[in-house]
Amino acid sequence: MTEILSPDDPGLARAAVLLRSGALVAFGTETVYGLGADATNAEAVARIFAVKERPRFNPLICHYPCADAAFRDVTSNPMACRLAEVFWPGPLTLVLPRRPDCLVALLTGAGLDSLAVRVPAPPITQKVLRSVGRPIAAPSANRSGRVSPTSCAHVLEELGGRIDAILACGLCNLGIESTIIDLSRDAPVLLRPGGATREAIEAVLGMPLSTIVAGEKTLRSPGMLASHYAPGLAVRLGATAIAPDEALLAFGPPPPGASLVYSLSDSGDLLEAAARLFSGLRELDAEGTRLGLKAIAAMPVPEAGLGEAINDRLRRAAAPRA
Ligand code: TXA
Ligand code: MG
Repeated sequence: MTEILSPDDPGLARAAVLLRSGALVAFGTETVYGLGADATNAEAVARIFAVKERPRFNPLICHYPCADAAFRDVTSNPMACRLAEVFWPGPLTLVLPRRPDCLVALLTGAGLDSLAVRVPAPPITQKVLRSVGRPIAAPSANRSGRVSPTSCAHVLEELGGRIDAILACGLCNLGIESTIIDLSRDAPVLLRPGGATREAIEAVLGMPLSTIVAGEKTLRSPGMLASHYAPGLAVRLGATAIAPDEALLAFGPPPPGASLVYSLSDSGDLLEAAARLFSGLRELDAEGTRLGLKAIAAMPVPEAGLGEAINDRLRRAAAPRA
């Protein structure tokens, strides 16, 4: 059952309670409807990927009520401050380095060292974000590969019965997604054109934005390439036994003999495994390197449901390094 919440105080309060408890709540923004979850709750974020049927863990945008809140999770710089001043709240997303103490789940950012942050404008959206008091991860509220929804009815059509609630926020007045600018490198890059125009952004920055050229797209669109986050240790897939110099990424009951084990899920639950995947890779990488191990042996994960995205990421982590 998907609750439809009205955009009044009781509806807002209910949306906030649900989000804080790890539920999925779609809500309107000035661009498109987002499918929201507590960005610090990896299992809630895993559920986003499950209901959208995303075959990959694309990194998600985190939504905040104001720039101060956003810049507590990422490291800002003068260009980011300038753009935030002019365009926030509004249809602009900035990609910046995660702070070391950032509480956003690694799954939200698909294991990357950067995080996409945005401050939406509509008063209703602002109120929800303020009353939840946590960053909200929200991709567009459609099933993977389909058109982004700009009304409550669209969301119901796409995800009705699969998500906990929809906050009926009326029509999105822009109807096109936010512009995404990567400010995590030396020069600003336009990753996705959207609601804030290139011209307006360039005018504020006083310099041209570079664009992704064909071929480079895979490099810039994270989730596409392992090299954005590949562990230092080699990764061996489909492991049913373990060598003495390997750390084990377990799924279900582990084979005997591993000295260093991270269990994605003891019971073989794909949602739990998705939520723990990126933390597991990082932990085994750091601890395995410290112990002088040579590789991470990853047990087989079924290819069904979220298993497809988990295996996609594991294959990328295991692929020959660039
Ligand atoms: O207008 C919008 O941005 C809407 C509303 C709901 O806020 N959200 C949205 O999210 O369009 P989504 O998930 O459909 O698209 C997010 C895009 C993806 O293409 C993803 O690759 C990119 O943002 N992205 C997220 N984190 C990133 C990062 N750390 N580096 C580069 N790109 C990132
Ligand atoms: Mg989308």
